[in-house]
Amino acid sequence: MKKYHFVAISGSLRQGSLNTMTLQAAQQLVPAHVTIEHLSIEEVPMYNFDLYDKHPPEIIEKLSKAIKAADALILVTPEYNYSIPGVLKNAIDFLSKHPDKPFDFKPVGIMGASPSLLGTARAQYQLRQMLVAVNALTLNQPEIMIAQANTKFDKTGHLTDEPTKALIGKFIVSLSEFCARVSA
Ligand code: FNR
Repeated sequence: MKKYHFVAISGSLRQGSLNTMTLQAAQQLVPAHVTIEHLSIEEVPMYNFDLYDKHPPEIIEKLSKAIKAADALILVTPEYNYSIPGVLKNAIDFLSKHPDKPFDFKPVGIMGASPSLLGTARAQYQLRQMLVAVNALTLNQPEIMIAQANTKFDKTGHLTDEPTKALIGKFIVSLSEFCARVSA
């Protein structure tokens, strides 16, 4: 069976983030033919085109290379004021200006977790729109919108909700099948 390597970005920088814990749960739920590498966006500076003057910042170079080399990218987004957090938008904007165009034709899967009842739905649809702008190929389904996420992890940050675990497992398999279709 073909092996797939995915890279994943969490749109939350804080310790104890529900979204980073969701990313970590996905890393544990992978089938044998899939690996997921967590890419941190903590060091991405505020976007300024002048920073592209000679070379892109080192962190942008590193992230762009990792995304280009991966079979797919997973974005795990919180919802802030009905949209995605500025740190995630900033990283997408920065990477979108890289001459290697890391998002172009890249399969992308979206997940999100929130204590609210909508589980980041509003933010995720805005993120999908942004991914049109960068010509990414976004997986439509299953949608991973983890509502009341604060009740679904234990004190050590492990996902305990079985239906959510099953859905994330299905999402990872769907993303690998999507990669196979795109590369066929
Ligand atoms: C939030 N939160 C939030 N939640 C939501 O479902 N819809 C929203 O519009 C917002 N708006 C919002 C704005 C700001 C500035 C903050 C800091 C938070 C709550 C948010 O979902 C919650 O803090 C999550 O725990 C954030 O994700 P992480 O950091 O746990 O991954």
